[in-house]
Amino acid sequence: MKRINQLFALSGILIVSAACTTGQKPEKVSALMGHEEEITALIARMTLEEKVNMLHGKHMFSSAGVERLGIADMEYADGPFGIREEMEPNSWKPLGLATDSATFFPTGSALAATWSEALAYDYGVGMAKEARLRGKDMILGPAINIQRLPTGGRTYEYLSEDPVLSAALSVQYTLGSQDNGAAVCLKHYALNNQENDRGSIDVKVSARAMREIYLPPFEAAVREADAYGVMAAYNKVEGYWCSENELLLNRILRDEWGFRGMVISDWGGVHSTVGAVTSGLNVEMPGSRYMGAALLDSVKAGVVPESVIDTRVREILRVRLAIAPVPATEANKVMSSLPAQQQIADEVAAHSIVLLTNDGDLLPIDPMKVKRIAVIGDNAVRRQSQGGVGAGVKALREVTPLEGITNRLQGSGVTIRWAQGYRYYSMRDRYARVSPYSDADPKLMAEAVQLAKSSDLVIFVGGNNREVETEGSDRTSITLPMGQDELLQQLAAANPRIVAVMVTGAPLDLRRAQQVSLAMLISWFNGSEGGNALADVLLGKVSPSGKLPFTFPLQLEDSPAYSLKVYPQQARQQQGDVFVNLVDKKEAAQESGPVADYAEGIFVGYRWFDTKEVPVLYPFGHGLSYTTFTYSDLQVRADDTYLYATLQLSNDGSRNGEEVVQLYVGRPGSKIERPLKELKAFRRIALQAGEKKAVEIQIPLEKLRHWDEAANDWKLEPGSVDVLIGSSSQNIRLTGTVQIAAR
Ligand code: BGC
Repeated sequence: MKRINQLFALSGILIVSAACTTGQKPEKVSALMGHEEEITALIARMTLEEKVNMLHGKHMFSSAGVERLGIADMEYADGPFGIREEMEPNSWKPLGLATDSATFFPTGSALAATWSEALAYDYGVGMAKEARLRGKDMILGPAINIQRLPTGGRTYEYLSEDPVLSAALSVQYTLGSQDNGAAVCLKHYALNNQENDRGSIDVKVSARAMREIYLPPFEAAVREADAYGVMAAYNKVEGYWCSENELLLNRILRDEWGFRGMVISDWGGVHSTVGAVTSGLNVEMPGSRYMGAALLDSVKAGVVPESVIDTRVREILRVRLAIAPVPATEANKVMSSLPAQQQIADEVAAHSIVLLTNDGDLLPIDPMKVKRIAVIGDNAVRRQSQGGVGAGVKALREVTPLEGITNRLQGSGVTIRWAQGYRYYSMRDRYARVSPYSDADPKLMAEAVQLAKSSDLVIFVGGNNREVETEGSDRTSITLPMGQDELLQQLAAANPRIVAVMVTGAPLDLRRAQQVSLAMLISWFNGSEGGNALADVLLGKVSPSGKLPFTFPLQLEDSPAYSLKVYPQQARQQQGDVFVNLVDKKEAAQESGPVADYAEGIFVGYRWFDTKEVPVLYPFGHGLSYTTFTYSDLQVRADDTYLYATLQLSNDGSRNGEEVVQLYVGRPGSKIERPLKELKAFRRIALQAGEKKAVEIQIPLEKLRHWDEAANDWKLEPGSVDVLIGSSSQNIRLTGTVQIAAR
């Protein structure tokens, strides 16, 4: 946070220069390029066997160096939201160490809901500090795929449906991490936007949608933050597996963006030897099926030139020499979760909570006016640091919502009682393929209704959990699981004073819940301090300031891929998820799965709903506060290189608060098919009650370019640009127009 704050701490004036996500030459030479001669000398001393030995997994989370030459192994750490516990070298069995409990950071969509570059930087710092204590060189994160489907199983891990927001946060996560000694590994490159059939699906996507929507977070983290690592995704893109995709790896990532680091496969995501190594893959993880003995044979047979091996080894060595290895004797010596990192998790959580509605006078809760609070819902006591398939965090601490509320009301005289309300959807249910979309449990419902009747206020804590949202499969619905809608109706009949808190990492259909709740919040899978952060917002110690990083549609069928019926739902999951097969030591599917036709093109998320005039429940960027912000005095102009916008923002309420000013552009009269509006910049601003600040936003004109498929390049269309300043994508407060001259 420090860096950015210092940068922008100009008395009363905030300047934001929008991140340059697209179409630029690399701004500076990669820090990875400082050891080329040393690397040449090292490679000259290596045998072919030693080189090939670096190009595949050594253990489940490491790849080999060359001990003889003092080249340490690369140690990887599953991220993206906490450093995964230590496991036996060749299995998934935890070692049970006393020091590998980590901080559970709020998951991706929570971080994105902060719309804070400063917090994304801190998040990277926190992750890196714990990675280093654990002896790790590279964090397998951030996870930055665009949230194309509301049901995507890993929506909670990813950031946003919008490329500009995702890119800006990816850049800062990367800087924070690499400034503190841990390389990132941007994942999953690219177009891994669904979990069903992720190991076999073939994505068909227009070049324009790929360039404008799906690649910018990766491009920005490479060009602007010098990301050292990239993970190739499981799926195919246009007929080629991502781990052997010449276009994605060699041409776009390396030649165009100037990436100088290393590409590792997703776990079990390699399908060939020659194709992978020549197309740009450096390390097969976690085994050696294709890039071990088979690769050695291919070189010896003259099918793969040794110069290709040298190049791949060079790219790994660049990262190896840029990241100081932690001696094994120093790793895991002290507990990895430390107060400084827990504090970051707390800050992110407190800024991520989104107030969706606040219709009554229940929020913020005044402890002087309530005597008996009923906290109802399984998620009030559920820990979310682990669950589902894949990465989880062995969290040193995780404050649940009930614990947070109880902590913060200690000594206030308020009685807090809890009822489960609805049944826990468990790992066992998921394995048995029991649907989470069941009826309410009558017994649990009756108990909860009883409790609600004898309370002054109901805080309902529901939503999804980490078994409902999981890697390896997509959700089948966005309705509330385990009969929560029915439960909420019953609770409202017993006591209408309901504040509903939804714990989720992805969109939900909250139409029925909204009708019976006087206030509603999203509190995400919100990390180690999530419960305390929630209580601080409920009690008004912190004014809510999170903004939705994705749209909540009215119903699933309204969302683009569902509406166009181009989300392949005849999932061939009978082949099993690629990762689950790997864990169970089964053969992963080699054949192609279904085709995912991204027929909606660039109309992803709000770009679709806005342009097609499809009504939504909560728009992208939405989030209320306990105070009121007034926007005024917009001035816009453009010169040859930038678009400039200045405005005044004032806090006219009686509480301190933070607002996220969002700048969208529209192109009226454009000759090109375009969304109604697109986010181009944003700025989070803290204002004390009664305070007013000038906000100045500066956007490089190249950010307004579109991908011209015929020219295979970025183009800036001259003409009118509408500048729309909003507190959400559908709450536009100020508008202006500038002209872009023909050049
Ligand atoms: C996931 C990756 C993860 C890897 C190692 C894969 O199944 O897709 O995100 O880093 O497993 O756990």
